[in-house]
Parts: sequence; C-alpha cells; structure tokens
Amino acid sequence: MNLCFDVSYIALDGRWRAPGSWVGRRFPDVGMYEDIARLAERGCLDLIFSGDGTGVPSTWEDSTDDAVRWGVSWPRQDMNPLMVAMSRVTRHVGFGLTYSSTFMHPYYLARLMNALDHVSDGRMALNLVTTTRRADAANFGFDDLAEHNTRYERMEEFVDVCRALWDGVEPDAMIWDRETGQVGDPAKVHAINHRGQFFQVKGPLNTPPSPQGRPILVQAGGSPRGIRAAAGFVDVAFGEDKALALQVQQRKDFDAALRHVGRDPARVGIIWQQPMIVAETEQEAVREREGLLGMIPKEVAGVYLSHNSGYDFSKLPRRFRLDELNAEIAATQATPVGFVHALAHKLGAETEISREEFFEYGVRRATSYDTTFAGSAAQAADYLEETFEATGSRGGFMLGHPMVMPGDLARIVDFLVPELQRRGRFRKAYSGRTLRDTLMDIYDE
Ligand SMILES: Cc1cc2nc3c(=O)[nH]c(=O)nc-3n(C[C@H](O)[C@H](O)[C@H](O)COP(=O)(O)O)c2cc1C
Repeated sequence: MNLCFDVSYIALDGRWRAPGSWVGRRFPDVGMYEDIARLAERGCLDLIFSGDGTGVPSTWEDSTDDAVRWGVSWPRQDMNPLMVAMSRVTRHVGFGLTYSSTFMHPYYLARLMNALDHVSDGRMALNLVTTTRRADAANFGFDDLAEHNTRYERMEEFVDVCRALWDGVEPDAMIWDRETGQVGDPAKVHAINHRGQFFQVKGPLNTPPSPQGRPILVQAGGSPRGIRAAAGFVDVAFGEDKALALQVQQRKDFDAALRHVGRDPARVGIIWQQPMIVAETEQEAVREREGLLGMIPKEVAGVYLSHNSGYDFSKLPRRFRLDELNAEIAATQATPVGFVHALAHKLGAETEISREEFFEYGVRRATSYDTTFAGSAAQAADYLEETFEATGSRGGFMLGHPMVMPGDLARIVDFLVPELQRRGRFRKAYSGRTLRDTLMDIYDE
C-alpha cells in the first residue's frame, strides 16, 4: 500500500503545545520540516503532503480575532519553500502541495510545478482543490464562491491547460550543445494557443521539461461531480476518512467514472485520509488521543465550523433543535453543513441540544477526534489492511492529524511501518527515482 503523511495540521488547534511536542521551535521553523522529511524517508513513506487554505477564519463573530487568538487554521503559509527545503535533505520521499484551481492561474502554476519538479528531482505532486471557503475567496477579489459545478468546470479546464503546457515542451527538447551553441530544438517546443471558457493561454512554457514531465496529479472531490473530475486527470485520488461503507461506495463510483473515460481502475489508487496515533500500547495511544479534546476551549471549535460552513455559530441560542438549525443554514445559502447534518443524523433530527453540547461535538470534529484511530502497531496494521482490502487493494493512506510532533510520525515510522513490512504490505526500500516510480511500485508490472 501507499503510505503518505499529512503535515497540514501539525501546528494548529493547540497541537503545537501538546505535551511531548517540539519545544523552542516554532512554526514555520524550516529545521522542523527538514527533520520531518528525514523521518518520513527513514520509513520509506511515499509522500509528505500539505493541504492549504489561504483565508483566515472570519465567519465566527464576523472577526478573525478568535482564529488568531487560538490558532484555528492560522497561521498557515505557502508550503512550497518548505517542500524545497525538505527535498534538499532527502532523495526519495515525495512532496504534495495544494493549490486552488479557483484562484490560481494555470500558466503560473504549471511553471511553478515544473520548477519544483526540477529542484526535487522528480518528486512533486499537485493536489488541486476547488476551495469551499468564503474567507479564501475574499482574498482574491470575490464576495462569494462560484457555484460548485462551475468550480469543477474551471478545474478541468485548468488541468487541460497545465497538461498542454507540460506536454508542449517535449522530453528531448533540450540540446545544450557547447560546440554549436544550440540550446533547444524549436521543432520540439509547441505553443498551445488555448482559448477556453475560463482561460486564454498561448504558451509554450518557457522552461525545460521536468524529470517527471508533469507532477503527479491529485484531487479529493467526494461529490459525484468531484469524482467525475478526478477520474479525468488524477494519478491518485484522495479520499475522506468516512465510514467504511461510504468509502467502498466511493471506490465503486470512482471505478465507474474511470471506466467511463476509458481508464483502467486497477492502476488508479485512492489514498484515504486516516488520522492516526500509534503507540507501544493501545492504552498509551488512547490516552494521547484524549489530549486532542483539551487543546482549545470548546467554543473555539465554532471558529472552525463557522469557517467551513459560512454560517456564524456564535449566534446559537442556549438551546435549539438540530433540524431547525439545519433549515436556517440552508436558508442562508451557506455551504451545506456536513457537520450539522451528520449530527442530526446521529442524534435524531428533532433532537434539542444545548450550545455547550453542540460545541463538545464540534471539538471532536475540529480535532478529528472521532476519526482518529488510536492503537498499537498491530491494531493499526489490522485496521489499515481491512480498509485497504475492502476498498479494492489499490492506493493506501494519508496518515496525519497527529497530536504530538515529531513523536507521532516517529512512532508511525518505528512501530507501524515495520509491522506492515513484516506483513508484506509495505516496501522495505525505495525502488525507483521519481515519485511516480514510488507510488506505482505497489502494482504488479
Ligand atoms: C485528503 C483530503 C485533503 C484535502 N485537502 C484540502 C485542502 O488542502 N484544501 C481545501 O480547500 N480542500 C481540501 N479538501 C477538500 C476537497 O478538495 C473537496 O472540497 C472535498 O473533498 C469535497 O468535495 P466535493 O466538493 O466534490 O464534495 C481535501 C479533502 C481530502 C479528502
């Protein structure tokens, strides 16, 4: 299986001060990330990944104050320079960056990813997101987000442009002949002359072809439209950490979408998000997971939930009914709120709960407490094997949302990886050079 590690949340939601975490080093200390990269490579992991969001949560009380005060999705920074630093202290592990196709421009991003693929010697992946948060839109000149399907249409055209640019400079376009002075072969460098609904790009890209030709392409859409977009272009998909039955269904839907565009589902994995805490014993892991609930004041979970839904939960009354809240959120045309919907499903739509109870559930959601697997290496390996097999034995897992860094990654590398290696489920050494080689080495020739 593929095993990746998500560094998106390592400093957020109070984790930076968890007992046992780095002392005297603060985000975004480049040395911290270099240590993470060395550790991940020691464990032969496929990929270090970071998600991204570019807006500071501001829906809660119409203010960024509590996000800043408590470190909720703040601070974050563009991870590309840190990926460069990590790539310079490693040779094999790959790096996944997230950018929004709704706000970026494809020429800029195609060129940036080409440069990063050169610097990392062929170890880059690009995770494209449509972006779901108004706080992000507000920084790019928009009052609101474009409609969901329109954002996916833009994403598809975005990828078409990037791929045409990457393919427009052929692999043997560079000559570098010292005798004649010829640098490139003009017959192998092609303009793209793209004129579409969202973009006009003439091309060609003004860079040499990169080691992988193009980065590994990733996308995490979970809606039917998102799955259709992913099927069109991803090398691997990301999947949410939801109930196994829903993951099995997503795998089926994704397979059908792949077949629909003439691709072979057998070689396109889904990498499932899987928050995980591994320790020497189950009790230790569970004790550590309990710590997640105490890192931020409970109401502060509302900052996170409001950010994701576009609805200000600070206005909640002392007691309320879940179905009424759901209806009110729908009426404001905020993003459909998975959290309230799921809570209504769990507790019963007509259930009345208190503000305190709501935020208790909120903290569990904000910290991924409910979906964090906590156990010994053997228990974690059992769990991963079961999910892997149930979802078609392709792809793997994005471990992450740790409580303590660097300890949680070290325990994954030192306890879980050897257990999976003993079971023949994970590589003992890297076999290829590029990230594509690494991700694909799990498939038989
Ligand atoms: C593993 C994983 C990582 C994701 N990373 C990001 C991210 O960094 N930034 C972001 O805005 N959305 C991120 N998302 C959300 C997805 O891009 C997407 O919006 C979500 O899965 C809903 O898909 P849908 O719009 O097709 O329903 C991530 C989702 C998953 C499962």
